[in-house]
Amino acid sequence: MTDLPLSDELYAHVRTLLRERLGLHFPAQRRADLARALTAVAQEHHYADLGLLYLALIAGGPIWDTAARCLTIGETYFFRNGAQFAALRERILPDLLARRAGVRSLRLWSAGCATGEEPYSLAMTLADSLPADTGWQISVLGTDLNLDFLSRARQASYGQWSFRETTESQRERFFTPEGARWSLRPEIRRTVIFSRLNLAADEYPALINGTTAIDLIFCRNVLIYFDEATTRGVAERLYASLAPGGWLVVGHAEPNVEIFRQFETVNAPGTILYRKPPNAPMFVTTALPSAPTVASPITPSQWITPTPLHEVRKTVSVSEPVAPASPPAPASTDLLIAARAAANAGNWQRAAEFTDRALVADPMRASAHFLRGQVYDHVGQIDAALDAYRRSLYLDPTFVMGALAMADTWRQGGMTVEARRGYRSALKLLAPLAPAELVPESDGTSVAELRTYILAQLRLLGG
Ligand SMILES: C[S@@+](CC[C@H](N)C(=O)[O-])C[C@H]1O[C@@H](n2cnc3c(N)ncnc32)[C@H](O)[C@@H]1O
Repeated sequence: MTDLPLSDELYAHVRTLLRERLGLHFPAQRRADLARALTAVAQEHHYADLGLLYLALIAGGPIWDTAARCLTIGETYFFRNGAQFAALRERILPDLLARRAGVRSLRLWSAGCATGEEPYSLAMTLADSLPADTGWQISVLGTDLNLDFLSRARQASYGQWSFRETTESQRERFFTPEGARWSLRPEIRRTVIFSRLNLAADEYPALINGTTAIDLIFCRNVLIYFDEATTRGVAERLYASLAPGGWLVVGHAEPNVEIFRQFETVNAPGTILYRKPPNAPMFVTTALPSAPTVASPITPSQWITPTPLHEVRKTVSVSEPVAPASPPAPASTDLLIAARAAANAGNWQRAAEFTDRALVADPMRASAHFLRGQVYDHVGQIDAALDAYRRSLYLDPTFVMGALAMADTWRQGGMTVEARRGYRSALKLLAPLAPAELVPESDGTSVAELRTYILAQLRLLGG
């Protein structure tokens, strides 16, 4: 069908709206693409013209999911840009493995992961570089705006075109044939957690969605779709998400060194890498200078702290987290592990069911209320989430992560006064603890790191 008309005036309005909400930039040469994508959204939601669609977009809601699906481009494949994967193996990993030898844990993030080829390539590279049974705990986070891409990423079934830079031996080792397609082996699939996150919005870094203290971020072929102000804001926030000494890899078409000036640049064969200086403070402590403070029209995505692989394996499989209905009833701990596994697999309905059952088995368990809160948070039930966090604190008045989750939720909802109060309470709860102690339910964050994070948030909030 022919595209619906997009007048000059409407083009200017829609263009501003999309830049503000999603960071996406539609210059004159992409105006026709924009009209085509908007026509598809209008059709799906039964709007007869683009003016009405624009009003619906202003009003917000699920129509933005369709807009994100129609407006984004998910071109990707495994091991895209061999020079960067060589740099990962030869330059980045040796550095990170030495730096993290004490804790034996690495956190990777593919920001703008499309259908999953990039985060899975990271996981495969790690699997090849780390001999089996070395006790390293690897977690890879894959985030994107487009829910359809994320759901395909979770399925991890790929056609021939995704393997255009994959060697035969890599494919044989990590995939099993499935008709004309290839299915990724579960041990690699399980290391990666997918979640929706809008890079243009002020949703990160945040402990609650797993975007803090990251060792390596791949954010490739995403910034090219953003305007300069958005790109600067994203660069600042990615910097803040990295641990000191953490690495950032961006796409070949986007290495504008000036935008990444706060990073050290490291030249590797065929590519430029960025690194947060090892002596940088753990968290940003000044206001982000050019980050656009865009309110996301989409429910802020939340990422449940990944369950360490060995714990998942001990209990239920991620792809099939069905607990037996017959006695003996699973203990609350097992149900919580199953809930986390379901959440990590993106099955929020299942995660809710498991946390509810964990709460029936042990209604006094603070961590179960906390997890329930995260599930509510993910599906946009913010009041219920706050209520669950409040209960976790009521049951265990020393439960720092409950206080922190409330503060993060208030901050993301723009409730500055409450957020400040929440961060101060969390700070008080940390006061009696030793700096090196690990905070329960925090994915291995130390008291000192958490304190720095909270102080940084308080400074950003002007408190
Ligand atoms: C061309 S793909 C790149 C995939 C992969 N990084 C690679 O280089 O192969 C760009 C991805 O960025 C995502 N994207 C665009 N705008 C975004 C935003 N505001 N927040 C998060 N992801 C976004 C798109 O949905 C798309 O999946």
